[in-house]
Amino acid sequence: MTDPNLLALESELTWFGAVLAARFGKSFPGEDETAPPEPLMIAPPEIDRGTVWGRLVFESNLAEPARLMLILALAPHLRPQILDPFFYKNQHTDRGFTEFGGLAAKAHGGFLPTLETALFLISGGDLGLRWAAQEVYFELCRRGLLELSSEAPSEPLGSRPLHLPKEVLMNLTLGGRQPMVRINPFARELTSQMNWEDLCLPHQVTEQLEEIKSWLVHGDTLLNNWELGKRVRPGYLALFCGPPGTGKSLTAGLIGKWAKKRVFRIDLSSLVSKYIGETEKNLEQIFNLAEHKNWVLFFDEADSMFAKRTQVSSSNDRYANQGTAYLLQKVEEQEGLVILSTNLRSNLDPAFLRRFHSIIEFPMPKKAERLRLWREGFGTQVKLEKSIDLEEMAEAWELSGGAIMNVVYYCCLQAMQKSNLTVNQEDLIKGIRRELRKEGKAS
Ligand SMILES: Nc1ncnc2c1ncn2[C@@H]1O[C@H](COP(=O)(O)OP(=O)(O)OP(=O)(O)O)[C@@H](O)[C@H]1O
Ligand SMILES: [Mg+2]
Repeated sequence: MTDPNLLALESELTWFGAVLAARFGKSFPGEDETAPPEPLMIAPPEIDRGTVWGRLVFESNLAEPARLMLILALAPHLRPQILDPFFYKNQHTDRGFTEFGGLAAKAHGGFLPTLETALFLISGGDLGLRWAAQEVYFELCRRGLLELSSEAPSEPLGSRPLHLPKEVLMNLTLGGRQPMVRINPFARELTSQMNWEDLCLPHQVTEQLEEIKSWLVHGDTLLNNWELGKRVRPGYLALFCGPPGTGKSLTAGLIGKWAKKRVFRIDLSSLVSKYIGETEKNLEQIFNLAEHKNWVLFFDEADSMFAKRTQVSSSNDRYANQGTAYLLQKVEEQEGLVILSTNLRSNLDPAFLRRFHSIIEFPMPKKAERLRLWREGFGTQVKLEKSIDLEEMAEAWELSGGAIMNVVYYCCLQAMQKSNLTVNQEDLIKGIRRELRKEGKAS
C-alpha cells in the first residue's frame, strides 16, 4: 500500500501544478483559450492529519498562500521538473522573465525558486497581494518553517532564496516516516514507551501531579465558562525539582502522553551556552512554533537561566539573565502547560518561584520504591541468577530511578554478551559501583 505521507505530498504537488498552470494562463493568455481559473480559487486537497505534511499544515494553521510557498520550496527536492515553466524565455528581452525570480544553480539542473517566484505564483502582479504574500514569507521564517536568508541584503527582498531549514526538509522528504521530532536545534519531542502507571513516585508527589492533570482536563472550562480568563493568566506553570534521575523528564513526557498532547523538551543549558547573546532569538523561534498548538513545553535545566541574580559572575551568566526576563514573560503568556525542571531549587531566585502554580519536589526513591524500580526494570523476561536478592539490593543501595535503569541496562548487556542470558550478581554489583562512581559517591 502506498505510504499516506507520499500520497499527501503527491496531492499537494498536483494542486500546486494546477495553481501554477492557472497563474501562467492568467499572465500569458492565449488567443482562443477559455479563461483560466483564478489561481488562488483552486481548492487545495483535504489534509490528512495523520501524515507529516498534514500535521504541519494543521498544527501551524497554514492557509493556501503559505502552503503554496512551502510546496514551492519543496518542489526542487520532490519534483524539480514541475518548475520547468519558469525557464520560459521572454522573447522581447531574450532572457528569463524577471517576475519569475529564481537562482542560478551550481550543479542542480532545474529551477531554484526565490521569494520572487513565490510572489509571482501567489500574487501575479497585484501589489496588495504581493505585500500580503511577503508577510506570509516572514511569518513562515518567524516560525522556523523557512530559513530567513539575508543573502544579497542590498538587493530587493524578492531575490532571497526560498530555503527550507534542514530539519523541516528532512522531516518532509525522507519518506516522512519520522514524526517531526526536532523543531529547533534545542527543542525535541519527548516520547515514552512507558505509561502513567509505570511511574514510581511517593503519594504526595502523585497527588500534586494530579492537580496538573486536572488542569489539563478542566483548564479550558475554567477560563472560558467561568470567565476566570479575565482575571488569571491563561496557562499553567509548574516547576519540577529534584536530583538527577528521579523521573522529572519521564513525568513530563507521561503527562503529555496521558493528556494526548505533544511534549517538547527545550534544553536550556545548551541553548544558553551555545550561542551567547542569541538566547532570545532561539527562544522566540520556539515560542512562535509552539503558538496555539496545545503543546506541553518542558524547559530542562532551568537553573542555567534562572540563577540568582547575585550569582552573575561570568559574561555567560550576564547574557543568560538577559534572556531570563524574556523567557519568564513568554512562559507566563503561554496558554498551555509549561514545566520547568531543575536539579537545584536553591539556585532559583525566590522572585521566580512565586510565579509557579505548583512546585513539585521529586525525591530520591525510598527502599520500597527502589524495589519496585528494580523489579519493573528487569521485568519478567530477564532471568536473574538465584543468588540475587532484589530486596537486599533495594535496601543496600541508595540509587535514583535513572541509576537503577542504567544498572539494569548494563547487566542485560553483559548477560547478552556472555550469551547465557542470565544476569549475575557480580555484574550487578559492578553496574551499581559504576553508577555510584558517576555520582562521585564511590571510588
Ligand atoms: N520515579 C520514577 N519512576 C519510574 N521510572 C523512573 C523514575 N525515575 C527515573 N526513572 C527511570 O529513569 C530514567 C531517567 O529518569 P529521568 O530522565 O526522568 O530523570 P530526571 O529527573 O529527568 O533526571 P535529570 O535531572 O538528570 O534530567 C527514566 O526514563 C526511567 O526509566
Ligand atoms: Mg531530565
